[in-house]
Amino acid sequence: MEISENFRHVLKTYLEPVRLYHALGVVCVIYVGMLLTRLMQRRKTLKAAFEQFPGPPGHWLLGNTNEFQQDGTDLEKIITFGENYPYAFPLWFGELIIDSVYNIFSGEGLLVSAGQRWFRHRRLLTPGFHYDILKPYVKIMSDSAKIMLDKWETYAKTQESFELFQHVSLMTLDSIMKCAFSCESNCQTESGTNKYIKAVYDLCDLVNLRFRVFLYHIDFIFHLSPHGYMYRRACRIAHKHTEEVIRKRKEVLTKEKEQNLSQKKRNLDFLDILLCARDEQQQGLSDEDIRAEVDTFMFEGHDTTASGLAWILYALACNPEHQQKCRVEIQQALEGKDSIEWEDLSKIPYTTMCIKESLRLYPPVPGMARKLTKPMTFFDGRTVPEGKAFSIKHFCYLIVN
Ligand code: HEM
Repeated sequence: MEISENFRHVLKTYLEPVRLYHALGVVCVIYVGMLLTRLMQRRKTLKAAFEQFPGPPGHWLLGNTNEFQQDGTDLEKIITFGENYPYAFPLWFGELIIDSVYNIFSGEGLLVSAGQRWFRHRRLLTPGFHYDILKPYVKIMSDSAKIMLDKWETYAKTQESFELFQHVSLMTLDSIMKCAFSCESNCQTESGTNKYIKAVYDLCDLVNLRFRVFLYHIDFIFHLSPHGYMYRRACRIAHKHTEEVIRKRKEVLTKEKEQNLSQKKRNLDFLDILLCARDEQQQGLSDEDIRAEVDTFMFEGHDTTASGLAWILYALACNPEHQQKCRVEIQQALEGKDSIEWEDLSKIPYTTMCIKESLRLYPPVPGMARKLTKPMTFFDGRTVPEGKAFSIKHFCYLIVN
C-alpha cells in the first residue's frame, strides 16, 4: 500500500508536464554534449593522422561542410585547394554519410557494394551490357530524344531561352526506364505529375541537401526533421514503383514460361537479365538485391548521362566551328534518315571525339570515393592511415576525408 502511494507520488512529481520538459531538455543536452565530444575527439584524431597533409582550414565544428553550397563555385574551390595543397589534402565533413544515404535509397546496389557481394553481382549483371542487349536501345533513345527536340521546337519558334538541363534529364530518365525496364513513363510530356519521377528528383535534391547541412549528418536529427520525413516518403514512393515494375515483369516471365513462349520475341532488357541471372549454384538474386540494382540503375543511369549531355551541348555551343563539323558528319551518316541507328555510330568519328573531349573537360562524375582497407603511402613518403574515406578527383587532385 505504502509502496504504491510512493509510486503515485513519484509519478505525480516527475511526470508533471513542466518537469517532463525539464527532463527531456536534460536528456537532449546530455545527448548533444556526448555527440559534440565524440565529434571533437574524432576530429582531433584525424588532425593528428593527417598532420603531414596540410589542407584548407575549416570551422572548429562544421569543418569544411559549409564550403560547398552548390552555388556554382564548388568546382573552382576544389581546383584552388588542389593548387594550394598539391597531390592530397584533408577535408572534414563530420560523419561521412554518403554511403549510408545512398544505401537507404538504393539499397546495396553495385555502386556502393564491395567485396564478394560486389563480385557476384557484377558477374551476374555483365550480360546486361552485351552489345546484343544494347543495340535495340539506340532506336529507343533516338525516339526519346525526338520527344525532347519537339519540345525545343516551340522555344526555337519563339526564340525564348530556357534551362535545358531539366529537359535533358527527363529525356535520359525516359530512356533508361524504356531501355532497362521496358517501362513507358511519359515523363517527358507529363513532367511534374508523375509521382515516381517527382520522388526521384526529390531524392536527388534531399541527398545533396543532407550532405551540405551539418546537423543532417546525424541520422537521428535528419530523420526527425521535415526533410527526413520528405526523404522517407520519397523513398517509399520510389520503392513501391520499383517493386511494382519487378512484380509485373515476374508475371510476364512466368506467363512466357507457362506458355512456352520464347523470350526472344521481345527485346530482353536489363530487368530480364536481373530476374533470370543464376550463379554456378543456380542461385539467383533475391528480391531485395534486384530492387537495389534497379534503383541504382535508375538513379545512376539518368543523372550522369543528363549531366554529360548538357555539358556536350554547352561545349558545342561554345565552339560553333566544331559544332558545324559534327552537324555535317551526322547528316552525311544519316543519308536522309531522320533517326540514328546502331550501324551509324561508327560513321561519326569526329562527333565521337568531341563527345569524349567534353567528357574529359567536364566529367559528369567528377570524383570517386573509397575507404582505405590499408594505409596508403604516396611517392613523397606521406601516408594516409587505414580506414579513412578517400576521394579521387578526376582533375588529378586527391582528397582525403
Ligand atoms: C556519361 C555517363 C556516365 C558516367 C560518366 C559514369 C561514370 C561512372 C563512374 C566514374 C563510375 C565508378 C564509380 C566508382 O567506382 O566509385 C560508375 C559506376 C557505375 N555506373 Fe556509371 N556512368 C555513366 C553512366 C551510367 C549509366 C547509363 C548507368 C546505368 C544504366 C551507370 C551505372 C553504373 C553502375 C551500376 C556503376 C557501378 C559499377 C560497379 O561498381 O561495378 N552509369 N559510373
